Amino acid sequence: MSRDLALPENWRTLLESSRAVRERAWAPYSQFAVGAAVLNSDGQIFVGCNVENASYGLTICAERVAMSSAVAAGATSPVAICLSLAGEPLPCGSCRQFLSEFNPQLLLLLDDCSRSEPPECIHLDTLLPRAFNFSVE
Ligand code: THU
Repeated sequence: MSRDLALPENWRTLLESSRAVRERAWAPYSQFAVGAAVLNSDGQIFVGCNVENASYGLTICAERVAMSSAVAAGATSPVAICLSLAGEPLPCGSCRQFLSEFNPQLLLLLDDCSRSEPPECIHLDTLLPRAFNFSVE
């Protein structure tokens, strides 16, 4: 992964938002808290945390909660998302596909919140090359 990509101007706000919402994670089964903050092209930020369920398969990841919140507010042009967790902060395959719907080149800020280093940056299409795209000719 690269640390060479430019961070968005307000990356610290995005990171603080992601870390703050992580505190609200509903993760009684895994005890693994995740926070996410989406930056829309107009500067708005939308946050999400993982929401687990006694029926494990119903669990929703933080990234999808954040992106869905943005869509519900009419903000469908994400430029970046910050993902905060304690460990290696990589989005799962389902979230990669879900986010790709809105911006295949989305900038990912990968924040291992157990460390104090700046987030790593990578474009979504590096993690999900040749994403499925429903296009009708
Ligand atoms: N999780 C996320 O929120 N995002 C990911 O990209 C990977 C996994 C959550 C789901 C579950 O609540 C916990 O992390 C453990 O898998």
